[in-house]
Amino acid sequence: MPLVTSTEMFRKAYAGGYAIGAFNVNNMEIVQGITEACKEEKAPVILQVSKGARAYANHTYLVKLVEAAVLECPEIPIVLHLDHGPDFETCKSCIDGGFTSVMIDASSKPFEENIEITKKVVEYAHDHGVVVEAELGTLAGIEDEVKVEAHAASYTRPEEVEEFVSKTGCDSLAIAIGTSHGAYKFTADQCTRNEKGILVPPPLRFDVLEEVSKRLPGFPIVLHGSSSVPQEYVRMVNGHGGKMPDAVGIPEEQLRKAATLSVCKINIDSDLRLAMTGTIRQFFDEQPDKFDPREYLKPARANIKELVRHKLVDVLGCAGKA
Ligand code: G3H
Ligand code: 13P
Ligand code: ZN
Repeated sequence: MPLVTSTEMFRKAYAGGYAIGAFNVNNMEIVQGITEACKEEKAPVILQVSKGARAYANHTYLVKLVEAAVLECPEIPIVLHLDHGPDFETCKSCIDGGFTSVMIDASSKPFEENIEITKKVVEYAHDHGVVVEAELGTLAGIEDEVKVEAHAASYTRPEEVEEFVSKTGCDSLAIAIGTSHGAYKFTADQCTRNEKGILVPPPLRFDVLEEVSKRLPGFPIVLHGSSSVPQEYVRMVNGHGGKMPDAVGIPEEQLRKAATLSVCKINIDSDLRLAMTGTIRQFFDEQPDKFDPREYLKPARANIKELVRHKLVDVLGCAGKA
């Protein structure tokens, strides 16, 4: 099937109590690792491209890589989505250039300005058969060259969501309930330590999610910054020359719970990066004489595939839903 929008995916995910994985793609091996897992697990998927990915790999290459995945995986629905579109022009360029979904992220702007920019993107996108994700609230962490310190992050205010959605006409809404971008989601003093000395992050604000869902019945909610930062990969990085002390993510049980509620899209990028980097570090540590990129990218792609399979089956609950 050709690229699809997320409309039908989200409708089924909401009703079925699961979420769609939205994985960031930057090169061929990442696209292949993700889509091979989705194909084998019969899972619908969102492949998302950031401004940074477009700058790195080029818009056309990324679209063509995703189109290749569509040809290779005709049995699963695939969405091509712009992640964190910073302005109308970038959204327009992706809408005109083959994407089926865009995010306009004006969440750092004042409420009225966020509405105004989002509405403009929605009008253009809907005229072209493309759907729009918007955001209210501010996540901490690093996203597309923007670093938001923990103290500057703010939870979504549930009392704002109805007005925002009705005035903008957006198709899904990203909210801030305590997730955070990157591999260092929380500072040590935001966490407690368990008996093994591992950092335990503060729990997500399910009360905010529930209040938002009550005000927007049936409306798809999106969680950004939802990597769980698997400690096996942090250890793999650190055990082979890396230095990522106290990297910590969102516990998977909390993401699983969110997926059973109104959260229909869960964004995962950092976990893929960790799997790829850990695998390549280990490869070179163990085989320092090797220099063929195919030899080290192959196990990296295989580990991305297994990581994605685990997310589909054990966290998102979307395996078998294609
Ligand atoms: O939230 C941002 C995503 O992780 C994309 O990161 O801007 O480095 O491509 P990036
Ligand atoms: P992570 O950094 O937790 O993977 O979040 C990715 C994301 O939200 C992309 O928009
Ligand atoms: Zn994000």
